[in-house]
Amino acid sequence: TPDNHVPRDARLIRLTGVHPFNVEAPLSALYDEGFLTSPDLFYVRNHGAVPQVDDSTIPDWEFSIEGMVKTPITMTLKDLIANFEQITVPITLVCAGNRRKEQNQVRKSKGFSWGAAGVSTALWTGVPLSELILAAQPMRGARYVCMEGADKLPNGYYGTSVKLNWVMDPNRGIMLAHKMNGELLRPDHGKPLRAVVPGQIGGRSVKWLKKIIVTAGPSDNWYHIYDNRVLPTMVSPEQSANEPKWWTDERYAIYDLSTNSATAYPAHEEQLCLVNGPETYRARGYAYGGGGRRITRVEVTLDKGKSWALADIKYHEDAYRDHADENEVLFGGKLDMGWRESCFCWCFWEIVLNVEDLSISGDIMVRAMDESMNVQPRDMYWSVLGMMNNPWYRVTISREG
Ligand code: MTE
Repeated sequence: TPDNHVPRDARLIRLTGVHPFNVEAPLSALYDEGFLTSPDLFYVRNHGAVPQVDDSTIPDWEFSIEGMVKTPITMTLKDLIANFEQITVPITLVCAGNRRKEQNQVRKSKGFSWGAAGVSTALWTGVPLSELILAAQPMRGARYVCMEGADKLPNGYYGTSVKLNWVMDPNRGIMLAHKMNGELLRPDHGKPLRAVVPGQIGGRSVKWLKKIIVTAGPSDNWYHIYDNRVLPTMVSPEQSANEPKWWTDERYAIYDLSTNSATAYPAHEEQLCLVNGPETYRARGYAYGGGGRRITRVEVTLDKGKSWALADIKYHEDAYRDHADENEVLFGGKLDMGWRESCFCWCFWEIVLNVEDLSISGDIMVRAMDESMNVQPRDMYWSVLGMMNNPWYRVTISREG
């Protein structure tokens, strides 16, 4: 395959054919890794072949800042590291297709079936993108920042855009990263340089970054227009392909993630050995919010939503906030989140259930709510790309004996 140069972990589950490489870890393995995901098990979403970059050429990797700026800049990665203060921040990335498998079970969408492990967290080291944009001096009327990668695809290079005012907002934390958990980026994750856009769908975090273009309007890149959208639910796979008007409507483009959660233990269709076993079972999983919003409650129901119990939530991210207040440096980057009010990471929830209650029903369902009271819906919103799927997460268990 074109990616022969990329070493990969055998535990990863392939979601598409041999090429391109799209994988998630088994959900239990992902959860067991804890707050930070090792690059070995970090989910991968590639639209095409991974650009090959030899270690010796990394310092000379060139990228540009152009478009509506007074001072266009071409810079190497070496210059970026030498001339700008480095920061390190924990950020969770989530693919917009996370949990798409459930959509495909209801009605086939135009996307492959992610389970609930299209989400991973790392400590990213790099530079706030706002610093580079400031250095290039945006012109009056500039409103968007387009980004383009080095992966050449059937419809051009991968590219997308975000709003300029988000890039300039420290609470949105948009950065360029060259390290992940203290090591150089792996080839699958954008080696040697990528954007990281916290709180938004992973599709905005352009890998193998080559070009930053400041513009008046959103990106006209094919992948910005025909990917990462939630179209109205009546648009069918057959109809949608023929009607560009649905795709060019920027209102349907997805940016902030939706509120979401999933159960890692028990696994779906797990057979629980409850007879003569312990009297309680510790159910547990993850949750995340969009746009930097904190998850403020996670609830579990055993009776399909008639009654709910509150789970405990652990926000590991807060420990990093405390260290940031003490001006700590990690992997050469200042831990730089003490002054941000946003939550950029997933949290973990758990709840101790009585085995007797578990016998009432075979379903354990979970839902999360964020600080703006955005709560996961009971019902699915099906759409043609199968993205942003976030109804109550259900696992069905059976009892042994
Ligand atoms: N950037 C480039 N250049 N090419 C891509 O195919 N995929 C995007 C984004 N950035 C992509 C890209 C999508 S859809 C996602 S979800 C994230 O990268 C995945 O990042 P990861 O593979 O490091 O987890």
